[in-house]
This record gives sequence, structure tokens and C-alpha cells, in this order.
Amino acid sequence: MTFDIRPLSDALGAELIGLDLSVPLDDDTFAKVHRAHLDHHVLVFRDQKLPPQAQIDFSKRFGPLDQHPADDAVLDGFPEVLMVSTKRENGNFIGLPDAGPMWHSDLAYKERTALGTMLYGVEIPEDGGDTGFANMHKAYETLPAALREAVDGKRGLFLAGRTNAKRSFKRPLNQEQKEKTPPATHPIIRTHPETGRKSVFANPQHTIAIEGMDEAESDRILSDLFAHCARPEFAYHHKWRVGDLTFWDNRSVLHIADLSRLDDPSYIRHLHRTTIEGDAPF
Ligand code: SIN
Repeated sequence: MTFDIRPLSDALGAELIGLDLSVPLDDDTFAKVHRAHLDHHVLVFRDQKLPPQAQIDFSKRFGPLDQHPADDAVLDGFPEVLMVSTKRENGNFIGLPDAGPMWHSDLAYKERTALGTMLYGVEIPEDGGDTGFANMHKAYETLPAALREAVDGKRGLFLAGRTNAKRSFKRPLNQEQKEKTPPATHPIIRTHPETGRKSVFANPQHTIAIEGMDEAESDRILSDLFAHCARPEFAYHHKWRVGDLTFWDNRSVLHIADLSRLDDPSYIRHLHRTTIEGDAPF
């Protein structure tokens, strides 16, 4: 199978044109898609007709799948598919309306963090609901010297379910879900296990402190670090269409969802997410 690669921005991201992901890719094509993922960090496949099982099968080519701690937000019959959705039934959200209120990397609060995430657009609003992606290799390579010195060799403390977002509809985890996701520590600067490149791994949604550092100093450094990582020149913002599949590398990318219309009950944004397990960052 052949496909074209169209870069989406100077920072990261590429559209792969000409592939139908509802049928299995041959090994040679799969290897090229894998290479494109490592090179561009975020892949976009437009106009896909992707039943949940086909999304699961494609995701599993990259590794075993994670089951999200919010086990009450998964698609019936497909526990590996998390619904990122503003739809309601009997007044309650059927999925997570807001899985990404702040810049973050998926499963960064676990011992083994996520390799990648696939998000498939099932119902998309006319306006709003974009997903932003930021290239953390670029963030690392441009770190001011003092900040790099402050975080190099340090570990961060990562926690699930934290949110500092000004407005958030994030569903808190219940006690049992929290117990399944104790805090983890990871290097703030990590090395990509496949490319060997370094990146900033801390994020404002999950990283609450720098291990072994005085609290005020840790807060100040993390705040400077998060401001640096959010610089617009590192980012690409994806405008969704129905049938888009995005696939990002959580080892090199932070992402964030636009929440600006979440309090409008007529605003429907419904996506299927699969998350591929990775390894413990080093
Ligand atoms: C997520 O962070 O997994 C979801 C991102 C989005 O809703 O755009």
C-alpha cells in the first residue's frame, strides 16, 4: 500500500494520505507508518470509517492497550475504548467530557506511561473542541540554561486526577479508581526509547512536585517549565472532522483539549480513544 505524508506545521504533525485503516496494513506499510510516527510525533488520518474493533486492532499493532481508570466511561463491549464525550444520558455524561483540560501526556501518573494514544472523531461540533499538540523535543532543545540545570537529573511526582483548570468538568475518580492509580515518579527529562532523543516529560495536569526539592522552589521551577513548554511555536492545533483518527506519541508530545464550549448542553463532541501502553521513562 502506498501513502503520502503531508507535514501539518513547522512544530510537529503530519497527515498520512491514502490509507484505509479499517483493513489490516501489510507489514511494510505498517513499518512506514511507524517510522512516520517517530519522525512527526502526531499523525492524522482523515476520512476513516473505523468501527471500534478496527481501531483496537490497529492500536494493538503498536503494543498492548491500557484500560483507563475511569472504567465507567468506556464503550459498551469494548473496555479498551474510552469515550471522550460531551453526550449525556439521564443528565449524566456517558464518557469523559474533558479528558485533557491542561497540557499533559496520557498515563504519565502510572509506572509505565503511555506509548501513544489514538483518538477517533465520531461526532464533531461545528466550532471549538480542537486538540493542541506540543513538541517536547523542541521544548527540551530550547530550554534556557538555568532551567535546564534546575531540572536535569531530577524526578517529578505525578498524580492522576489533579486539575488546576480554571473551568473543568473533569469527573473525579472514585475511591476504588484512585486506589488503582497511586502516584508515580519519573525523570523530568526523559529519553525516547526508540529514537534516543531527549524531551521534557513533566506536565501541568499530572506533575505536582520535583522530588527532594523545597516546595516553593519546586512550584517556581515547574511554573517556568510549563510556561516554556506551552510556547506557541512548539504547537499544532488540530481542527477535527468526523472520521479523523489522530495518533500521538506520549513520549515526545503534550496535548490539550479546547474546553471553551463545554458548558453548552447542545455542544456534542464524541470521540473514541485507545491508549497503547509504553514503558517506564528513563
Ligand atoms: C485526551 O486528553 O485524551 C483527550 C484530548 C481531547 O479531548 O482532545
